[in-house]
Amino acid sequence: MSLPPVYILAIESSCDDTSASVLRGAEALSNVVATQHIHEEYGGVVPELASRAHQQHIVPLVHQALAKANIDKKQLSAIAFTRGPGLLGSLLVGTSFAKSLSLGLGIPLIEVNHMEAHVLAHFLETPGKQPPPFPFLAMTISGGHTQIIRVDDYFRMEILGETLDDAAGEAFDKSAKLLGFPYPGGPLIDKHAAQGDPTRFTFPIPKVGGFDFSFSGLKTSILYFLQRETAANPDFISQNRDDICASIQYTIVRILMQKLRKASKATGIKHVAIGGGVSANSGIRQALKDAEREWGWTTYIPPFEYCTDNAAMIGIVGYFKYLQGDFATLNVSAKARYRLGS
Ligand code: KG4
Ligand code: ZN
Repeated sequence: MSLPPVYILAIESSCDDTSASVLRGAEALSNVVATQHIHEEYGGVVPELASRAHQQHIVPLVHQALAKANIDKKQLSAIAFTRGPGLLGSLLVGTSFAKSLSLGLGIPLIEVNHMEAHVLAHFLETPGKQPPPFPFLAMTISGGHTQIIRVDDYFRMEILGETLDDAAGEAFDKSAKLLGFPYPGGPLIDKHAAQGDPTRFTFPIPKVGGFDFSFSGLKTSILYFLQRETAANPDFISQNRDDICASIQYTIVRILMQKLRKASKATGIKHVAIGGGVSANSGIRQALKDAEREWGWTTYIPPFEYCTDNAAMIGIVGYFKYLQGDFATLNVSAKARYRLGS
């Protein structure tokens, strides 16, 4: 006798993307995302505007996710949601919605740690891709986070290092802002870097112990560099944009790769998995290819829709927790600070 399929509805609302997904087992049948463009005007995420937009988006998105998956809500086995970390007002929208639906449909509620979800996104079924074997190193690099995690099993993970200040995506976005690019400028730095010389300008690599990162000094050094150069030549940025972008990208990628290499050497682990929006960056992708060739690594990057904030990754954690019977009660509350492994 075969067991009935498990259908999980998953909700993500930790920052500025609202997302809903329906999974059948480890396969995402739908994964819809509403990106909030309103923050572009402000050059960063405005928490109050984010939670209001989540409220507007969540019901239509859940309908879309169910329709796209061709699943009726009565078929759902459980509902999974992002409990944290993230912006409290944003998390509350997803948390309240998930609780109400769980109560209304009489199905289990599953709370998910967003950082764990970035790691387990590698286990979403993807044609032609194999998930990394345990143990592996996972580096999550996005606008909100930068961590290196040792992953020994689905729910046995340890943070080896993380940023002490800005996230890698913020380093890209803040540098981009100094160059006059709109928010988020990371992809534009990448685009211009493709035509530039990465060795033209040098920026300092921070001296931070262990496997931790720091990016705030880089931003300051870029600021002073641009102030100095534009004082001498007001057209400095427009005349050297590609080389500046290539040099900034080269520095950020070096910072990331140095720590990743250090972690690989210290643990002896050569399976390395990357997630988060910054994994779209062509510099980091090239560096990983080089690492495969030069250091014998095997590297893993999920499809881009599972790299950026999305509900399918919440759903895969939900699925694994469902199999373990690890359910939350209706007393569960959103947690803005929610450390992985806590
Ligand atoms: O994961 P994500 O969509 O959202 C969160 O921050 O959680 O990541 C967005 C970040 C932004 O900082 C954006 O500039 C950066 O990822 N990003 C990139 C590229 N694509 C997205 N940074 C550099 N190069 C890219 N190609
Ligand atoms: Zn994220």
